Amino acid sequence: MQLVKLLTDMQSLSRDFRAEGKTIGFVPTMGALHEGHLSLVRQAGKENDVVVVSIFVNPIQFGPKEDFERYPRDLNGDLNKLSSLKVDAVFIPETSDMYPKGFSTFIDAGSTGEKLCGISRPGHFRGVATVVAKLFNIVNPHRAYSGQKDFQQTVVIKKLVRELNLNIEIVVCPTIREPDGLAMSSRNSYLNPEERKAAAVLYKALEKGKSMILEGQYNTFMIKTEMERLLKAEPLAQIEYISIVDPESLEEVDTIKASVVLALAVKIGGVRLIDNLIVSPHLSLNPDKATSR
Ligand code: PAJ
Repeated sequence: MQLVKLLTDMQSLSRDFRAEGKTIGFVPTMGALHEGHLSLVRQAGKENDVVVVSIFVNPIQFGPKEDFERYPRDLNGDLNKLSSLKVDAVFIPETSDMYPKGFSTFIDAGSTGEKLCGISRPGHFRGVATVVAKLFNIVNPHRAYSGQKDFQQTVVIKKLVRELNLNIEIVVCPTIREPDGLAMSSRNSYLNPEERKAAAVLYKALEKGKSMILEGQYNTFMIKTEMERLLKAEPLAQIEYISIVDPESLEEVDTIKASVVLALAVKIGGVRLIDNLIVSPHLSLNPDKATSR
């Protein structure tokens, strides 16, 4: 496993891999790696000849009052975890190389980046789109791996690849969860034991919404009301949004007629957590309701 710090070294390493006819699978991360990240690395290993993982806490995707300074960093622990997997290179760029003085070119994720998490995190997806485009240009992968955990991010990245004509396949991998359903996240380390226990309420609310849909409830107002009731029963939870959206446009859906994404952002104590589930209704169960309001 090679450690690569310089952008030019990463570019020439990828050029060498390609010259040898090898396919490159790429997993961009901000480190503090957990099983969610590792599942992407394993998937990349199954589908490609070589695997590149990047670790870079990207300052431009954090708002001025967000947790950039505090974001967990554990490079030695991360390298340890990666060394037991099939990883060929770990790319660890310096902030000053990624964003040299005077850096001024950004990629605007447009309306896709303004919905859901974009409402409370203005500029976040602009920062994500910009760093991901830069990393894609540096690593030049055949495939890149992205977790469903950050559903909106997967939509932004797929759109970026399509609209900027990048020749990269985006592979979205399932959300890895703790035994109580909490989606794994580097930010879970901010939770104290009481908050950690309370955090399971996000998945419970999503599961409730899912089961209502599978039982034939297609009125999203009814579903969101029930999810809200469940979340409000947890005193530590503070709801930021409960949304039921179209998986591609991210527009809110009133009546479910096809697959939807149930998406949540909830603060537990002061810690902002997000989660989502994609649900396909069994429309044959109750076809009448699918067209009613
Ligand atoms: P980070 O939060 O470190 O996540 C890196 C990748 O791991 C993302 O694709 C994310 O969706 C995935 N991931 C995180 N938790 C997961 C889980 N529980 N199950 C499955 N996949 C999971 O997302 C970022 O970093 C950054 O925004 C980045 C894309 C690297 C750009 O800076």
